[in-house]
Amino acid sequence: MTSTLVHNITTLVTNDPTWETGPLGLIQNAALVIEDQTIAWVGRSQDAPPTDTAHDAHGRAVIPGFVDSHSHLVFAGDRTQEFNARMSGQAYAAGGIRTTVAATRAASDEELGDNVARYLAEALRQGTTTLETKSGYGLTVHDEARALRIAAEHTDEVTYLGAHIVAPEYADDPAGYVDLVTGEMLDACAPYARWVDVFCEKGAFDGDQARAVLTAGKAKGLMPRVHANQLTYGPGVQLAVELEAASADHCTHLTDADVDALANSRTVATLLPGAEFSTRAQWPDARRLLDAGATVALSTDCNPGSSFTSSMPFCVALAVRDMKMTPDEAIWSATAGGAAALRRTDIGRLAPGARADLAFLDAPSHVHLAYRPGVPLVSEVWRAGRRA
Ligand code: NIG
Ligand code: FE
Repeated sequence: MTSTLVHNITTLVTNDPTWETGPLGLIQNAALVIEDQTIAWVGRSQDAPPTDTAHDAHGRAVIPGFVDSHSHLVFAGDRTQEFNARMSGQAYAAGGIRTTVAATRAASDEELGDNVARYLAEALRQGTTTLETKSGYGLTVHDEARALRIAAEHTDEVTYLGAHIVAPEYADDPAGYVDLVTGEMLDACAPYARWVDVFCEKGAFDGDQARAVLTAGKAKGLMPRVHANQLTYGPGVQLAVELEAASADHCTHLTDADVDALANSRTVATLLPGAEFSTRAQWPDARRLLDAGATVALSTDCNPGSSFTSSMPFCVALAVRDMKMTPDEAIWSATAGGAAALRRTDIGRLAPGARADLAFLDAPSHVHLAYRPGVPLVSEVWRAGRRA
């Protein structure tokens, strides 16, 4: 097995609290050793052990690869017109999902797979080394299973979201659609997925329907996560906590009881500022969640409707500027927070035993990700011990 020393790192973000430099576990003048796919050693440059080869970071900062725990990449078409209309004052109502459903159903497997690969590569160039993605633009047994099969060819973090909206064919029979999602569609989809999700929202699925979807998914061995409290107050967050979901995503409209429930649970609050940016909606109150003690993750929500960005650095910058997170908090949430939202301990941190996923920044510190918004600072990415 070859060992590689990565050295000359000005600031290393480890997310390893044993360094006693705060939650980010910062090390200045750092180095690390990679063996095969894994981190074997982390420390100060002067303490580095001998290795077979060396890689000079040339004074750049290094952070764990971003963990984007929420995206919707299996789609076809785009919704430029809808975005334009919104930017001229129209409100976002999630009804545009139907436009993408029609385009996705009409697309070939190859077209859908090429799209996933393209946005995954775009995300990787910006430092994302783990990316969750979902179905939800098929809404038939065939199209949902196909979406998940294609997603599973590109990532291990695959989520069944047959309950994105009620399929157009069931507009007059939402109960019939929930039966399909919890029955035949679930049977066809479960083999490809790790997670089950539901859009719990007015105009999508109410609390009882969402509970039925998540409970059925759990019975099939899928772990729950929830699109909760995005457009309005509602039961999504409480349901997520009650069912021990890994994550409640969006969390834009929260009561004090919702914040308390999250703070006293293992359910991560995943905030998706790209969606608020692109729908001109109010920002989620990250400060309130953090001050209450909730675990917060940041993700892109990359999808052609409400948030067409694959950029975790962009989300970090928004979270700092508009959601009142400190740069340290935002970078933790975009790495370790995402790992927590996926219940993973092998990613989102740089410590012995973790997967060697690194993002090199053309900057002396991680703070520049927020300080220099819009600048492509990620200059090199390693995934599972290999330069990507
Ligand atoms: O997470 N909220 C529901 N689903 C997506 C939006 C999907 C769309 O508009 O196409 C979201 O924002
Ligand atoms: Fe989403």
